[in-house]
Amino acid sequence: MSYKLATQSTSTEVRDGYTEQQQQQYRKYLQQLKNEFDQRWCKKQNFNIVFSDLERVRTLGTGAFGRVVLLKYSKTQKFYAMKVLEKEKVIKMKQVDHTLYEKRILEAIRFPFTVSMEFSFKDNSYIYFVMPFVPGGEMFSHLRRMGKFEEPLAKFYASQVILALEYLHFINLVYRDLKPENILIDRNGYLKITDFGFCKVLQGRTWTLCGTPEYLAPELILSKGYGFSVDWWSFGVLLYEMNAGYPPFYANDPMKTYEKIVAGKYRCPSSFNADLRDIVRNTLQVDITKRFGVMRNGVMDFKNHRWFKGIEWEAILNCRWTPPYIPKCKHPGDSTNFERYDEEAIKPSSHCRFESEFLDF
Ligand SMILES: Nc1ncnc2c1ncn2[C@@H]1O[C@H](COP(=O)(O)OP(=O)(O)O)[C@@H](O)[C@H]1O
Ligand SMILES: [Mg+2]
Repeated sequence: MSYKLATQSTSTEVRDGYTEQQQQQYRKYLQQLKNEFDQRWCKKQNFNIVFSDLERVRTLGTGAFGRVVLLKYSKTQKFYAMKVLEKEKVIKMKQVDHTLYEKRILEAIRFPFTVSMEFSFKDNSYIYFVMPFVPGGEMFSHLRRMGKFEEPLAKFYASQVILALEYLHFINLVYRDLKPENILIDRNGYLKITDFGFCKVLQGRTWTLCGTPEYLAPELILSKGYGFSVDWWSFGVLLYEMNAGYPPFYANDPMKTYEKIVAGKYRCPSSFNADLRDIVRNTLQVDITKRFGVMRNGVMDFKNHRWFKGIEWEAILNCRWTPPYIPKCKHPGDSTNFERYDEEAIKPSSHCRFESEFLDF
């Protein structure tokens, strides 16, 4: 997929900033993506793949309801990441609705900076989501190893996250779990956002308390009823963390973290320049009527901010911008960018469990 602007600028033109005309043109393209999303959303997918053709390589990550494992498909030699969710745990943690959303969303989204579903199936005990394997590892690991990102790298990643959130919000999805653990780096150095476990179609407002403490928006903590604004807040936290190496609001006790968030109390390290401070201040804005991303100009407040001066948004979207960093991947199935985890057998029960709860899967 590639996006082409009707009026291409020439190399001699100054390309700083993003014009209203460019944005209008881009919105037409987003509308096209939305129509495609809506069509897939209404269609039940059928996959015909034989489970025994999938060879399990190793665990890539673990979560509250299961794990993600690296697979090799013997027929094509292609590598996949499979999220395995235990039905019993999903029910116990009251996540059946979220998991059904996760499946339908993964099946319907298509954007350069998000993962999507290749196939899904279920057995007596588990449900399985199979996605393309993103071999560069979590942004989290790279950030911890590097300490913090150099500004060009932080800008490169931030611009992709903005485009991904713009897409998701345009198709009425609120993501709700933005953090470095859920952002993967592909072989080409570009990002893929994964984990749509808390993502949902938003009509109006919602009240569910979900997400990760350090990234929760004040309006969500205060049970105020919230909308897309929560994702822009988390983006502000991410922006800060990529540039500082640690999150803006942190305490050992989550309650203390929430107090700091609600008060909007944080300090920028001395290394932050004026432009960075300004964009962070406008994004980590407790008053949502003043927060970047949700005001009248929407994402244009980001796209035209001085901190992004020099970024060519269309080049980023089409992956034509040279990435400041490319992770080491020796081959398509190289999993050395991921942490090691204890392996555990996936053993489905001999009889079908929780059939009725998972009928729609
Ligand atoms: N498509 C993928 N390719 C490679 N690794 C993945 C992929 N999807 C998820 N992972 C890894 O598995 C971890 C857990 O997956 P995630 O969907 O975030 O589950 P949870 O909801 O339990 O957090 C991720 O943080 C990431 O390290
Ligand atoms: Mg996750």
